[in-house]
Amino acid sequence: MTGREWIVERQDGIEIWTIDGEARRNALSRAMIRELQGNLARIREDRALRCVVITGQGDKAFCAGADLKERVSMSADDVHHFHDSLRATFRGIEAAPQAFVAALNGAALGGGLEMALACDLRVAVEGAEMGLPEVGLGIIPGGGGTVRLPRAIGVARAKDLILTGRRIGAAEALSMGLVSRVAPAGALREVALEVAGLIASNAPVSIRQAKRAVDGALHLGIEEALAFENRMYQACLATKDRVEALRAFAEKRKPVFTGE
Ligand code: COA
Repeated sequence: MTGREWIVERQDGIEIWTIDGEARRNALSRAMIRELQGNLARIREDRALRCVVITGQGDKAFCAGADLKERVSMSADDVHHFHDSLRATFRGIEAAPQAFVAALNGAALGGGLEMALACDLRVAVEGAEMGLPEVGLGIIPGGGGTVRLPRAIGVARAKDLILTGRRIGAAEALSMGLVSRVAPAGALREVALEVAGLIASNAPVSIRQAKRAVDGALHLGIEEALAFENRMYQACLATKDRVEALRAFAEKRKPVFTGE
């Protein structure tokens, strides 16, 4: 499963995908995005997989954004095409049936933070830095940053980060709700796997439907949002896992979920 750009590990219902590009601070290259697309396609129908942790190699960077060295030799058409595939790939993470946890092992900047924002939640090591520095580079965040950051932390806080381009540390990110846990140095993997394990212990159809319910209702008015939630809820009622949960409760044991 491991390719040239990503190291893929599997532990029961969890996969850990590590960007294998420490020398370029795990920056987003074309090959790396292509392989990420392949990984997303591979897991689309994988009902045994409940959660994916995305992280980067080393302790300097989760992902330093676009590969600025590769960018120099790209034509305008190449950049356009790359940008489209980046956006589609991040959308693919968001739309995946599994939950995604970004484990920020170091700097998450520009497209790196945008990739983390496409994940369902984020945990960071205490030394990690986060920011969207694009306005200082003559562009704006174009990988979903201006859309997903306000949805994650609110408009005022998002504009603070996007318009200043400033970098924040893990403690400030935690206080903003940008990350949900901060791990001490050396303990990020453990914390990320603990979060992933909690998610993976739940019914897979419920995880998928809950993710859809939250993401799909965000832009709707209250009536439509509640109707949307109800549709997502109804889909859980017919599952064997719901019956198994009731049986397990009656029998005072842990449920064994199959994703059916
Ligand atoms: N694309 C390609 N290579 C990158 C890169 C990027 N986005 N960011 C860092 N690198 C490379 C450096 O060029 C350097 O390569 P070299 O050894 O061949 O000179 C190597 O990674 C190490 O970079 P360095 O800055 O010395 O590492 P650091 O650990 O001190 O700092 C960062 C790491 C990520 C904080 C820092 O590199 C940085 O700020 N990068 C730019 C981030 C950015 O602005 N991204 C664009 C957002 S739109």
